[in-house]
Amino acid sequence: MARDVIIACDFASKEETLQFLDQFTGRKPFVKIGMELFYAEGPSIVREIKARGHKIFLDLKLHDIPNTVKKAMAVLSGLDVDICNLHAAGTKAMMKAALEGLTRPDGTRPLLIAVTQLTSTDQKTMEQDLWIEKPIDQVVMHYAKNAQEAGLDGVVCSPLEAGKVHDVCGAAFLTVTPGIRFADSAADDQRRVMTPAKAREIGSDYIVVGRPITQAADPVAAYERCMKEFVG
Ligand code: C5P
Repeated sequence: MARDVIIACDFASKEETLQFLDQFTGRKPFVKIGMELFYAEGPSIVREIKARGHKIFLDLKLHDIPNTVKKAMAVLSGLDVDICNLHAAGTKAMMKAALEGLTRPDGTRPLLIAVTQLTSTDQKTMEQDLWIEKPIDQVVMHYAKNAQEAGLDGVVCSPLEAGKVHDVCGAAFLTVTPGIRFADSAADDQRRVMTPAKAREIGSDYIVVGRPITQAADPVAAYERCMKEFVG
């Protein structure tokens, strides 16, 4: 799998998003569309960005009973996204159903990756709120293995976990990692950050980068810098 930089298009509207993407003349960055933009604009935003030639990671983190997730995934597959995701906490049965829903009649499908534990969840909240008492790194690896056993393609994880996920699940199992910052940029609300170069060294397959690109004075230059550090 080729390494790539995915820009998190965390904008509130279609206008803002397209204005942002218009700056990339001659380049078609891989973009992530999250809940805010998707719920504001609906499937048409996916169709429009896709029609402009971008690859799309649709980050909707599905989590429901298997049959509901299967049917929802069939709809997302019809949108021709490249990557979509769900919560591994929904169980292996849910993940398997999701894969069935995603698979088109011709056998093709978008990549499907799992969220293990959100990076906003720490050991304390996992124990207190979720009543999960194992060490969080073991929980993340267990959920990654569940995702692999269900047939998924990879996980979203902290870049600090990417190496371990590859050790446990193999090098072909994808790691998609947010929490990326340039050595000289602000961490914002991200607690544990890593540079694109370090993420490459550790073996991340895709990095998801938001504010260091979207809020940069020159977003195209920031994207090119990211590509150079991460892809080479
Ligand atoms: O602006 P920034 O680079 O922090 O954006 C990172 C993106 O990755 C955001 O869209 C955020 O929601 C997402 N994300 C994350 N941490 C996770 C999962 C997703 O930062 N564990």
